[in-house]
Amino acid sequence: MAAVVLVGAQWGDEGKGKLTDYLAEKADMVVRYQGGNNAGHTVVVGTEEYKLHLIPSGILYENKVCVIGNGVVIDPEILLQEIRALAKRTSKYGKLLMSTNAHVIMPYHRLLDQLQEKSLGSRKIGTTGRGIGPAYMDKTARTGIRVIDLMDAEVFAQKLKDNLEEKNKVLTKIYDEPPLEYERIYRQYQEYAEELRPYVTDTSLKISEYIRGEQKILFEGAQGTLLDLDHGTYPYVTSSHPIAGGACVGAGVGPTSIQRVLGVAKAYTTRVGEGPFPTELMDDVGERIRQNGREFGTTTGRPRRCGWFDTVIARYSARISGISDFAITKLDVLSGFESLKICTAYHYQGERIVEFPQSQKIFSNCEPIYEEIAGWQEDLTGIRHFKDLPATAKNYIQRLEELTGVPATIVTIGPEREQTLVRQEMF
Ligand code: GDP
Ligand code: IMO
Ligand code: MG
Repeated sequence: MAAVVLVGAQWGDEGKGKLTDYLAEKADMVVRYQGGNNAGHTVVVGTEEYKLHLIPSGILYENKVCVIGNGVVIDPEILLQEIRALAKRTSKYGKLLMSTNAHVIMPYHRLLDQLQEKSLGSRKIGTTGRGIGPAYMDKTARTGIRVIDLMDAEVFAQKLKDNLEEKNKVLTKIYDEPPLEYERIYRQYQEYAEELRPYVTDTSLKISEYIRGEQKILFEGAQGTLLDLDHGTYPYVTSSHPIAGGACVGAGVGPTSIQRVLGVAKAYTTRVGEGPFPTELMDDVGERIRQNGREFGTTTGRPRRCGWFDTVIARYSARISGISDFAITKLDVLSGFESLKICTAYHYQGERIVEFPQSQKIFSNCEPIYEEIAGWQEDLTGIRHFKDLPATAKNYIQRLEELTGVPATIVTIGPEREQTLVRQEMF
């Protein structure tokens, strides 16, 4: 038995898609356990670049089973588009399964996400506008529509009617918007249901069969620890649980089945959307990292905010998710700097803080304390073994390991599969 959870250790976009694809070669099954099409996971195979939002990033291998777990919220239109686009581009892809218990994103979720953001004005979260928050709200309110409901025309009709009755009141009375029409949505979603039916199954049961059969399972997180609903920079978070523990709930497996947790962190830090970010660089250095790293959102195209590596949040992520190994990604992007900065702690009102503060008011006013370390000038993208990295680059990685207390088992130096330096295999 070998199960590994792969989690984002920062604010998302750490390179989870690339690493999932890389590790999937050795896995038998890849499972997405939370989030929805707010995620944008980029996988590069040869000259082809795939941007996956809902389909697990192991799909680009022919013989893998890729599961969309119960913890995911599924926009059927987007999922079908993704399936069709994939089939058009390649004939070699894995077998997709989706959980009966996953919740369905409805048109009113998308609409309400955008309307809520607009009404928040300057206090907006900066969501992806994909209806994620409202879909999870209905899930916890116990009014949501699950995949299994969508598969049953009678149950779906009743749930849609009940939901529309309430949502149309909100749309018309609170937001002054026209109501949504039942018939159109019903018909459209029944079409989606027929197209998706072959993929729907009890995925927790399927996963348990793989566990019993000693097969290798990779759980692919979306977003990142600092975007976790409970443990992130609330309220500037997403509405699900990207942390490693989320894999148990979102896939229906027990914690005793999981052996290792791979935390994915960029060699620097980025964030999309609003919210505190102590090491953010508002200057030329930040702009240089953005350009070198092509830091523009995979899902919304928004420029990502960039800053130095923050070991306070990396240590925090390691604690919250029980990270056993780090994958440090995009090290190549830091080539050409005379020196690099690593945040080791914060200053807050004259006090030195070494742990992630619980108060967001404090976190928003934390000033990073930096340690400066020599950079390197060499282009790293052609390197294929960790030992061949310039001494200063190795030194940088070693310092991150010392400050976080977690080994950097994998280092990446480019978006392609071969640009992955593995110091110890995960499976
Ligand atoms: P995810 O959401 O965590 O899967 O990350 P994204 O795909 O949104 O963003 C990461 C981006 O960096 C993608 O465009 C990747 O192709 C790219 N990428 C991943 N690893 C590396 C790397 O080591 N170096 C460089 N230069 N790009 C990388
Ligand atoms: P991947 O999986 C980066 C951010 C949004 C916003 C907040 C809430 O590609 O790493 P939501 O639409 O989820 O309600 O938005 O979370 N966000 C992400 N940022 N990467 C992601 O996914 C994200 N998914 C959501 O920008 O700040
Ligand atoms: Mg992304």
